Amino acid sequence: MQRVAVFASGSGSNYQAIMEYLANQSHPNFEVALLISDQPKAQVLERAKTWETKSYAVSVKAFPSMSQFEEAILHQLWEADIDFLVLAGYMRLLGPTLLNAFRDKIVNIHPSLLPSFPGKDAIRQALDYGVQVTGVTIHFVDEGMDTGPIIYQRPVLIDSSETADSLSTKIHTIEHEMYPQIIAACIRNLEGHE
Ligand code: GRF
Repeated sequence: MQRVAVFASGSGSNYQAIMEYLANQSHPNFEVALLISDQPKAQVLERAKTWETKSYAVSVKAFPSMSQFEEAILHQLWEADIDFLVLAGYMRLLGPTLLNAFRDKIVNIHPSLLPSFPGKDAIRQALDYGVQVTGVTIHFVDEGMDTGPIIYQRPVLIDSSETADSLSTKIHTIEHEMYPQIIAACIRNLEGHE
């Protein structure tokens, strides 16, 4: 059983979907052993209490440098014996401290068909640009902004009457369905290579 840490800054609906998926599996190949948030007031921390996931809320402002911030997180990851990192709405780039410690063992989900519309507000960016197709991407994480190798993509059609809310709902529905399954598949693949 691989031990996963989920990183999230906001609502945490993807974290919630992962927990629901795990609760419905008779033989899951991973468990969420830690929730990390860089926003001490994030809603995801409330969700973590409900699911009884150990959480670590840490503000970057409490540290003199980014590397010290990440070292504090790394310490928690080691303490919890974490094998694999899942970014789910973590609104921060990872630096070398975390990337080097978990090389090829970090995934992210992004609400567009990368490489289109990386960074913040990808749903709004797609609507403003006027594309008729956007989607969801799950990818490995490297030092860039939403740039790592792509694992999975699913297109979503944008209707002429689409609003940011309706598109966000469509995208989240796919995210919640696919992210837990793709995480499980990545971990299966990893175990096959170890
Ligand atoms: C998701 O749309 C994900 O693709 C993006 O951030 C959002 C997080 O949503 N990276 P939630 O906090 O899981 O509800």
